[in-house]
Amino acid sequence: MKTDILGRKELEHLVNSFYDKVKADALLAPLFARVNWERHLPVMYAFWENALFFTGGYFGNPLKSHKALHDKSPLNDAHFKRWQQLFIETVDEYYEGEKATLAKQRALSISTVMQLKILSGGE
Ligand code: HEM
Repeated sequence: MKTDILGRKELEHLVNSFYDKVKADALLAPLFARVNWERHLPVMYAFWENALFFTGGYFGNPLKSHKALHDKSPLNDAHFKRWQQLFIETVDEYYEGEKATLAKQRALSISTVMQLKILSGGE
């Protein structure tokens, strides 16, 4: 039986499983080819802990990071669509409950705003 995302342990598993899918995905993998995973993974654990439990120490600016990424390797609708698909698929594969639903909602809303702001080229 699936459980909900109860805390840090499940979040780390969720993030690791999501990036396993990203790294195996022909469309997204090239965009992550230069990522320093040892540095990036703890940032993502903190980001999601903050998004779901309001306790993580994430102080970054994802919009700024992704604008910088877009300037180097342009992102398009297909990239965002695939990112969303893989994230939702990963949550559904392992978890169900209030926090699992919240994780999917947050991923979709942040992704939609990011996509609009980055692809429209505005602020
Ligand atoms: C087309 C979709 C996306 C692509 C290709 C993408 C790719 C990346 C890459 C390459 C990095 C930099 C990793 C590094 O070198 O440190 C990054 C960082 C990050 N991404 Fe994404 N991303 C996407 C969408 C999203 C979405 C929708 C979210 C949030 C729900 C998100 C959250 C983050 C966060 C929090 C960071 C860390 C930023 C920081 O350093 O503070 N990403 N992403």
